Amino acid sequence: MKFYSLFFAFLLCAIVGLIGCSSKEISQPQSNLNPVQRGKAMFEMSMIGENKAPGCIVCHSLEAGKTLVGPSLAGIATYAETAVPGMSAEEFLRQAILEPDQHQMEGYPAGVMYQEYGQDLSQEDIEALVAFMLTLK
Ligand code: HEC
Repeated sequence: MKFYSLFFAFLLCAIVGLIGCSSKEISQPQSNLNPVQRGKAMFEMSMIGENKAPGCIVCHSLEAGKTLVGPSLAGIATYAETAVPGMSAEEFLRQAILEPDQHQMEGYPAGVMYQEYGQDLSQEDIEALVAFMLTLK
């Protein structure tokens, strides 16, 4: 009898724990990651941020030449270096998240990329995404 109630208590904890974890995992990466790892984890989530915005990977592949809704972001750090004269790669990539329509990639439509990341994501999240994209040379 005692064994069973202990067993059920354990099972209940496990279930609650699992639900807790999985709903968090949808939009928040683990907290013990460095910025690049955090950015990568966020990039690969299907939903990110407070409002469960679509994740980057929904529209951007990391495989060269593979177009989803948006362009592949393989090599985006190199592209970002010269995309806008006078703008550093870091500034360009930050703006690409915060104001997607300030700059258009040739051959892709405006207004398609999700526009509200500036409201939905924390400063830390945005910097992590920028740090990760800077590694995509
Ligand atoms: C709903 C689809 C969609 C989502 C989600 C999306 N993007 Fe985009 N993205 C696009 C499209 C389409 C373009 C090409 C048009 C343009 O240049 O704005 C683009 C362009 C870009 C560019 C190229 C730079 C530029 O301004 O032209 C970068 C960098 C980028 N996205 C990063 C991201 C990151 C990081 C995320 C996740 C936080 C993300 N995107 C989420 C569709 C999306």
